[in-house]
Amino acid sequence: MGYFHERKNVDAYIRMAEGYDGRELIDVLKMHLPAGSTVLELGMGPGKDLDLLAETYIATGSDYSSVFLELYRETHPDADLLKLDALSIETERKFDSIYSNKVLHHLARPDLGRSFSRQRELLTPNGLLMHSFWHGDKQEEFHGLCFVYYTEDELLSAAGPGFEVVALERYTEIDDDDSFYALLRKTG
Ligand SMILES: C[S@@+](CC[C@H](N)C(=O)[O-])C[C@H]1O[C@@H](n2cnc3c(N)ncnc32)[C@H](O)[C@@H]1O
Repeated sequence: MGYFHERKNVDAYIRMAEGYDGRELIDVLKMHLPAGSTVLELGMGPGKDLDLLAETYIATGSDYSSVFLELYRETHPDADLLKLDALSIETERKFDSIYSNKVLHHLARPDLGRSFSRQRELLTPNGLLMHSFWHGDKQEEFHGLCFVYYTEDELLSAAGPGFEVVALERYTEIDDDDSFYALLRKTG
């Protein structure tokens, strides 16, 4: 069983992430994605970003951990939630945007490109991706979870030619410029 599939680890993550959310990323997304658009969040975790997205968008939350989904459901009985792995994203639905905040670094490096290809299939024409990453070139493993760090160039190469860059910026989560976000538009 994976780390985020156990309640005690989910509780520990929620305590650790207190005070953090993706407001800065969502504010950037709002400059490019019209209100009322559909947004799928991958790896929603406790759902703080999903709450923010839902203020402006028709937001669908997802995670591969039923523990996070069930916890969120307790306080949001009508929320639109899907159990999805960020690699395979097995849904027939299409979205104007796909969003994640510090999730895709848990995919093995060769799987990131596969996830981007699948995301491209699920986006409506000119749809937008907004994803955040830890910046760097190392790879670590904690509690059986993979943490892959990316440079901007590596990230764009994983995304492939089917996207154009709308914004690519460093920001600070814990240490100076330890993170970056990529806002990419589907082309073609
Ligand atoms: C670091 S937490 C971030 C949670 C949330 N986005 C936030 O900002 O608080 C990583 C989240 O991604 C989920 N996750 C990790 N790997 C995943 C995968 N392959 N597919 C879907 N969700 C995944 C975990 O269950 C967890 O909720």
